[in-house]
Amino acid sequence: MKIIILGVAAGGGLPQWNCGCIHCNNARSKYNILAAQTQSSIAVSADGTHWTIINASPDIRQQLINTPCLHPKELRHTPIASVILTNGDIDHIAGLLTLREKQAFSLIATSDIHNLLACNPIFSALDPDKVTRKTITLGAAFSPSPGLNATLFAVPGKVPLYMENEENTLDTAMIGEQTVGVYLEAEGKKACYIPGCAAIPDDLQAQLHHVDALLFDGTVFHDNEMQESGTGHKTGRRMGHMPIAGECGSLNVLKDLDIKTKIFVHINNTNPIWQADSEERKSVERAGWAVGYDGMEVSL
Ligand code: MLT
Ligand code: MN
Ligand code: ZN
Repeated sequence: MKIIILGVAAGGGLPQWNCGCIHCNNARSKYNILAAQTQSSIAVSADGTHWTIINASPDIRQQLINTPCLHPKELRHTPIASVILTNGDIDHIAGLLTLREKQAFSLIATSDIHNLLACNPIFSALDPDKVTRKTITLGAAFSPSPGLNATLFAVPGKVPLYMENEENTLDTAMIGEQTVGVYLEAEGKKACYIPGCAAIPDDLQAQLHHVDALLFDGTVFHDNEMQESGTGHKTGRRMGHMPIAGECGSLNVLKDLDIKTKIFVHINNTNPIWQADSEERKSVERAGWAVGYDGMEVSL
């Protein structure tokens, strides 16, 4: 199995268009202080020929240009057999509109996530004669591209921002079909991709025990880092993302998992792990985690 991180940044990317925080400014600097990173997506393949994209980011056009194995091999062609969605967030679905040019592929998601697309007529730009929408039940195995097996499983999360209702009734860690992780298996190798996760209950932790690689939600390091940096008023948890730090953070909760390859993805532009010399980055690396980057490849 080969996984390519097409985009490692959270919604907005690095830099985010309207953000003048130090990380965004560094990523805009002509001195290349930080490499710019595109929005949340991976590509995965079992045979190196047929590929599955997980999440269609608003940056997918550039991501495909940057990734030769995803270029057309004929006059009109794509190596992309399917696109899986892990939630209905804008950073994971807006790129579908780029994939509208009468090209066949399977669009795979839970019923709830498909319903979000169905409610919005702009997605009818994906010609139903070409783009087959496949609804997957949680826990049911399916094959998104030749040789690759996958399962979707619920992870705590919330509805997309554009579907949020009253603040006081919003459940930011609901378990259902709105937010899922993807379990991937090919030739006995196993990986999990979880770009959004509000918490890790015991049964979710148990699922992760035997994977060879985990790509996990690294949106924020500190739950309150947007408030602290003055860039926003929401906490990570309010956005449906558990922090990396703290007793209930991913570093601590996942510390006993025996997984060789652990990579943070979906990293918000405020996260201090972007900076190679930050204490936060060092603490993540000491714990055996890598900070993902656009173009990073994992071969299993
Ligand atoms: C998230 O991951 O929290 C969302 O992508 C936020 C957003 O829609 O901007
Ligand atoms: Mn996101
Ligand atoms: Zn920023």
